[in-house]
Amino acid sequence: MCGIVGYVGGRGATSLLIEGLKRLEYRGYDSAGIAMNNGNGLETRKAKGKISMLEAAVNGNPIHGTVGIAHTRWATHGAPNECNAHPHIDCTKTIAVVHNGIIENYSALRTVLKEKGHVFVSETDTEVLAHLIEENFETTLEDAVMDALNLVEGTFGIAVVSSRDKDKIVAARKGSPLLIGVGDGEYFVASDVAAILAQTREVVYLDDGEVAVITREGYQVSDLGARPVRKGVSRIEWDLDQIEKGGFDHFMMKEIFEQPNSITNAMRGRIVVEDGYSKLGGMNITRDELEKIDNIIITACGTSWHSGLIGELMIEENARIPVETEYASEFRYRNPIVTPNSLCVVISQSGETADTLAAMREAKRRGARTLGLVNVVGSTIAREDDGGVYLHAGPEIGVASTKAFTSQVIGLALLMLKFARRRDMSVARGREIAMAMEALPAQVQQILDRAKEMEMIAEKFKDAQNFLYLGRGYNFPVALEGALKLKEISYIHAEGYPAAEMKHGPIALIDENMPVVFIAPHDSVFDKVASNIQEVKARGGKVICVTSREEPALKGLIDYEFRIPETVDMLYPILTVVPLQLLAYYIATKRGLDVDQPRNLAKSVTVE
Ligand code: AGP
Repeated sequence: MCGIVGYVGGRGATSLLIEGLKRLEYRGYDSAGIAMNNGNGLETRKAKGKISMLEAAVNGNPIHGTVGIAHTRWATHGAPNECNAHPHIDCTKTIAVVHNGIIENYSALRTVLKEKGHVFVSETDTEVLAHLIEENFETTLEDAVMDALNLVEGTFGIAVVSSRDKDKIVAARKGSPLLIGVGDGEYFVASDVAAILAQTREVVYLDDGEVAVITREGYQVSDLGARPVRKGVSRIEWDLDQIEKGGFDHFMMKEIFEQPNSITNAMRGRIVVEDGYSKLGGMNITRDELEKIDNIIITACGTSWHSGLIGELMIEENARIPVETEYASEFRYRNPIVTPNSLCVVISQSGETADTLAAMREAKRRGARTLGLVNVVGSTIAREDDGGVYLHAGPEIGVASTKAFTSQVIGLALLMLKFARRRDMSVARGREIAMAMEALPAQVQQILDRAKEMEMIAEKFKDAQNFLYLGRGYNFPVALEGALKLKEISYIHAEGYPAAEMKHGPIALIDENMPVVFIAPHDSVFDKVASNIQEVKARGGKVICVTSREEPALKGLIDYEFRIPETVDMLYPILTVVPLQLLAYYIATKRGLDVDQPRNLAKSVTVE
């Protein structure tokens, strides 16, 4: 996704902006640029490709100033190239704009502006903003920006500088995250706190429809009608070393190995083992409201949707409440059944996924209570939901989600306990689940201690062209997740299926070149999965099996086995997913691929 950094203060802005962009690299991008007010006017430098290319352009033709903005672009309109890179400037070279989001009516605006004589040089929607601000720039820059934005349909997080204003940045947001960093006599703008954490921990999150005017003296926030808005300052507790790789080759591996700790943090202070119960402080729901919930909708995207499927099984099995798990991108555009007694659980690591945010807003419009399971504190979903359960997984930098997934499953298990122990679940059963949850971090560590076994298996299959992942019950969503992990970082085609579904078509794919990964712990459906393993072997397939016990019936049938500890059925996904994360990681690294920033992917998909 695109990234924004801005600075106004007494220090040279160039190195601060470039450093800030580097902290945003993990978000995925294809070009970058910087604009500076050098005291005599605006200068810009832009480059296709990595930030190092922009750095080379700046070093080759230095740019100086104490007020500047910078941007990493993930192309939505127009090819990834220098011309389409941000910042974009107006005809008079007076205004420079960086923008995250999509201007939906940019084509109509472009036509009108061209008729007025404006000359466009790029294919982007963003350039329209530069000319629109120029068109309205009669009094102050902030007035011109507000006038322009009031004509815009779509989403934006923008930062604007002008040659007329030697120490001013105007920032505004609608549908794309933006925050102000509060320094000592200096101020920052960023789309992600990681960009400025090295400079300040004090931040002000802008909300949709807000505009900020930022100078060396401070900042003022208003709405798009110029009405002042009071904002609080938040303090960020994350440390930069949490964001660094911590000795691992990739953020993804660091985050896989963080899971004993992140799972612990997801449960910290939220489990009452004695009562087999959970305490979730942020739900913001009364006892009566909790009792009235008679249906639950879970909505999310990608990996978060997979954890939602597990939550659906947990809650229906134990709390006996009907649950529907919906792709957010589908939910938001269909005519779903939502009642005043619906609870809409919104799962998102980033808290900024456009489809998920829109689905939550649609559920709210239809009267549902919303509950966010979000990792990023202060993210849009976390600030707009009616209540929430933070995942406390710490920053997840790798584009492929790992620790956030297991923390989501923990959050859903805690939510299940909340409901189930108010309904039919006995204290004994609740206690059994709570104790099993508390054992998970050590069990995950046992798996991680044997990561090299998975590396050996990866070596055997790193050149495969296709994979099939099969599981049943709680492990069918794990099959989907394992397939997604492999797809998104190794670019190998992989599909996840309910194990029994293999007979209804995919079995035609089975031959000696098709590795089949079975997720087959000794749970209530193990015997059925064992039969499926035999069906695959009968057709010459290669079987990789994640299981929890020696099984005589499978002797000689499994080509490669990875053993995991035993737990209660509903918690197996926390254990079975870890070997699959490792398998995907090792295959991708053995294929020499960019594990943390896979091609075409972004960490947070803040556009439709
Ligand atoms: C997961 O590995 C992917 N990167 C992707 O599917 C991700 O889970 C999805 O985009 C949802 O993101 P969110 O959890 O931040 O909303």
